[in-house]
Amino acid sequence: MREQIVAGNWKMHGNLEDVCARLEHLSSYKNKSDGTKVVVFPSQVYLAKTQEKLLDSSVEWGAQTVSEHPEGAFTGEISCEMLLDFSCKWVIIGHSERRQYFNESSDMLAAKIDRCLENGLRPIYCVGETRDEYEAKKTHSVIEEQISAVLSKVANVKLLPRLVVAYEPVWAIGTGLTATPEYANDVHGLIRERLSGIDGLEGDDTPILYGGSVKPDNAAELFAMPHIDGGLVGGASLDAKKFLEIVECIK
Ligand code: PGA
Repeated sequence: MREQIVAGNWKMHGNLEDVCARLEHLSSYKNKSDGTKVVVFPSQVYLAKTQEKLLDSSVEWGAQTVSEHPEGAFTGEISCEMLLDFSCKWVIIGHSERRQYFNESSDMLAAKIDRCLENGLRPIYCVGETRDEYEAKKTHSVIEEQISAVLSKVANVKLLPRLVVAYEPVWAIGTGLTATPEYANDVHGLIRERLSGIDGLEGDDTPILYGGSVKPDNAAELFAMPHIDGGLVGGASLDAKKFLEIVECIK
């Protein structure tokens, strides 16, 4: 049985008061008996607060990105070692917003995954096609490229089984449009197949999360699909009650 994971990406939303209210709500959460993992990704400036509030809960936390460098003169960047100081266990790598607005290249993403793996942090590597690529029916080729160009360059092959992949069609992120469960499941199946072609990975064992306008009213049918092992939730994770309703949709 593959791991089931529901992750909340809080992006650059809210302020200390909002984050504290959300953390307060999550602080009494205990894992479901099926072992579903629940992970949140606050802005890095709130990681100390997150650690303080969630320490006694079963919710884990991580960062929305990390530097590919171990340390040094990189103004504004945050290292894996710094994340470990706040008990982070996870890092989102290659979110489409990072690729689009911060020009994160395949080489950079492979280096970030390596830094995470060697520091014991688990990367959630995001892939997904844009609206234009979707309409031009290029989904499969885009995803194959995003997998091979990055994952085949990871040096820590032995640690790759700790990787999680998230399929996030860019046209479904924050738009209210969701891929149908069947469409998402097909793409997850393709991802699984391609992962098996990467040295160190076994597609059947890698958790693959779906992301893109996941909400309490569509999560159950997405999570019921055989290749979908949970979700990476943006907007709906900002409301802790809704987020936990989504977690409950894992069966
Ligand atoms: P969304 O974002 O749920 O708001 O569509 C998902 C994501 O960007 O991870």
